[in-house]
Amino acid sequence: MLDHIFGAKNFQSEIIWAYKRWSNSKKGLLPSHQNIYFYSKTKDFKFNTLYKPYSETTNIDQILQRRTRDRHNKSVYDKDSLGNSINGAEKKGVPLSDVWDIPYLNPKAKERVGYPTQKPLLLLEQVINLVTAEGDIVLDPFCGSGTTCVAAKLLGRNFIGIDESLDAVNLSKDRIDNPIKTESNLLKNGRDSYNNVEHSVLNFLKGIEFNPIQRNKGIDAILIKQYEGTPVLVKVQKDNETLGEAIKLLSNAMKTKKAKKAFLIQTSDENELYKMDIENFGMSIIISPALELSRQLAKIYI
Ligand SMILES: C[S@@+](CC[C@H](N)C(=O)[O-])C[C@H]1O[C@@H](n2cnc3c(N)ncnc32)[C@H](O)[C@@H]1O
Repeated sequence: MLDHIFGAKNFQSEIIWAYKRWSNSKKGLLPSHQNIYFYSKTKDFKFNTLYKPYSETTNIDQILQRRTRDRHNKSVYDKDSLGNSINGAEKKGVPLSDVWDIPYLNPKAKERVGYPTQKPLLLLEQVINLVTAEGDIVLDPFCGSGTTCVAAKLLGRNFIGIDESLDAVNLSKDRIDNPIKTESNLLKNGRDSYNNVEHSVLNFLKGIEFNPIQRNKGIDAILIKQYEGTPVLVKVQKDNETLGEAIKLLSNAMKTKKAKKAFLIQTSDENELYKMDIENFGMSIIISPALELSRQLAKIYI
């Protein structure tokens, strides 16, 4: 039907919305996805590439190093005339794929209004972010409980919702006036890819764009913004590391990743002699808020 309405040529993607569900019922595979058909009206449509964090299995060199094709058209790391690897351009993460991992609204979610087919706001927000800009008009001709309209409102878009059911229209109006969005712990605390990165690291970097780095002793994150064409590395001093050890790990990482700038977040108190020489090679130490607080408290209580 959509092929008929929009033209098969205007089919863009079949999006799989996948989620976890728990059920012990019937024999067979548990249904845990829905299909979204993405069509445009013409060839010329708005599209904002969205980025997601790299998965934990991504090799850090894949993020940092420039790649090229060899004579067999195989992707290889680019080298300079001396055979050294070359840093690539800034990378924002992995472009959003056509498989979307967005939690299903659980039956007790605050966001739930009792509409059987209600979709999560996060899902509609992703759709709207992908293909519209602020101020655009979003139309949902089968708006049900009004999720699309609420998502559009929260994102600064205009909207039109239509439904043949008066109950649906009234419910939608109520929700538009009082939008309630359930914070997803999964998304708030990080997706699967973040599971191995200490939560402290994520908290320290809240509000800045970065790629978390897994299973690397010297680096916990790489900022999206580069410094003079080189990656900016961040490490948090771990409980089992002295400041000296943390500096050593981070400075080794700076060498291998050819980074000119790095930040070490210091979490435990020690003398600060190290600070003198590290600044010369581009590393800065930032005192964690908890450490700073305990220092200040120590002064108060003397
Ligand atoms: C699957 S629900 C939409 C649920 C919505 N996405 C949400 O998050 O709440 C589909 C809605 O389409 C409405 N509907 C079905 N046929 C319609 C028609 N011909 N004209 C207008 N609305 C219609 C139904 O009343 C129902 O509320």
